[in-house]
Amino acid sequence: MNVCVIGSGGREHALCFKLKQSLKLKKLYCMPGNAGTEEISTNLNIDISNFEKIYETIKEHQIDLVVVGPEIPLVHGIVDFLEDKKIRVFGPSKKAAQLEGSKVFMKDMCKKFNIPSAKFCELKSIEEAEEKLKDFQEPIVVKADGLAAGKGVTICETKEKALDDIKSILSGKFSTSSRVIIEEFLKGEEASYFVITDGKNFKQIGTAQDHKRIGENDTGLNTGGMGAYSPSLIIEKSVEKKIINKIIKPTIQGMAEIGCNYKGILYAGLMIDNGEPKLIEYNIRFGDPECQVLMIRLEDDLIDLIQNCIDEKLNNNELKWSKNPCVTIVAASKGYPEKFEKLKEIKNLPNNEKKYEQMFHAGTIKKDGKIFSNGGRVLNSTVSMKDLKSARDRALDLLDKIEWENKYYRRDICWRALK
Ligand code: AMP
Ligand code: GLY
Repeated sequence: MNVCVIGSGGREHALCFKLKQSLKLKKLYCMPGNAGTEEISTNLNIDISNFEKIYETIKEHQIDLVVVGPEIPLVHGIVDFLEDKKIRVFGPSKKAAQLEGSKVFMKDMCKKFNIPSAKFCELKSIEEAEEKLKDFQEPIVVKADGLAAGKGVTICETKEKALDDIKSILSGKFSTSSRVIIEEFLKGEEASYFVITDGKNFKQIGTAQDHKRIGENDTGLNTGGMGAYSPSLIIEKSVEKKIINKIIKPTIQGMAEIGCNYKGILYAGLMIDNGEPKLIEYNIRFGDPECQVLMIRLEDDLIDLIQNCIDEKLNNNELKWSKNPCVTIVAASKGYPEKFEKLKEIKNLPNNEKKYEQMFHAGTIKKDGKIFSNGGRVLNSTVSMKDLKSARDRALDLLDKIEWENKYYRRDICWRALK
């Protein structure tokens, strides 16, 4: 069959890499893709916010299956739009996508179905904020309701700072929403837990740990993620049981109960403290860069899995994984997540011929046969080996050899696990 991946990041390159292994695949497309996906698929240079144009292009190329990578088109209802036109598409509906699209929706779900999560409160005015803050201890987490590309969350050491942040969100700092919540600060270690679900059944589709901060030792500004490894070492069997019973099952059942049947990838961002998992947030898609490490380790056929999910035929069998752990290190443009320069030439990239070693591309573009940086996060050096340390050393080695004057990456990915 002909398959099209929507998106242009490292996650989408990794999805293309995995789909490419399927015997069911005839032709692979990526919309709009990057210089890496161009090597293994046909890039379709389409604006992915233009659903009509996406539909026309799908028809033109006789695409049988669409796999949506990023959250924005999902939250804007691409699945409903394409399903209405009888196109097979993998991902949650617009209603179900509220789990990521609205923090208020997600926190209300947690309350209604008793899902362990930080204590929270929605604030409608500054007066209300002043009053409600009395019930919270510092530090206080302030969150804008809608999608904010990772910039909607601040951890405020003082109530004064929290009030300032609440004020600016209420007065429209984010165009997606002016609703705001405050949350209790959770301590512990973060981990990501992924399931694929057809609304009734689900399977675990990997665990990973991301590194959100720009600097080594987890310091500096928050980013989309600077590196990840899989499996997560803190999600032991006993913790996983709690994640499934207290978080995943009530969510899938609860979503069905309120008329928002959830189909697709469900990504639980968790805080684990003393073996007790709490839900920080839900994402409605694979993580980036977590997807990169999962797709290297997954041994099952991704097209089969997606088809079974769409057809509501997922069974309860566990998926097959390679035994070796996998690490990905994100190379970013110097300056990211703030100002950075684009269109710097990148030379000496490895050839990507190995199954357990891939230099996934994110913000890259090819011009006249040369490859240039084209975004904040640019490359993901992804390696699976017998142990995490060897995998990280190899991933660093691949990056060290790349010639690109703007490169920046953390050398300490997995530091907690290697401590
Ligand atoms: P979110 O967009 O909700 O995932 O938040 C982004 C990041 O902020 C998370 O990955 C955590 O590192 C941090 N964070 C969010 N909520 C909390 C919380 N209630 N307690 C501690 N850290 C949090
Ligand atoms: N790596 C975090 C995310 O994809 O949201």
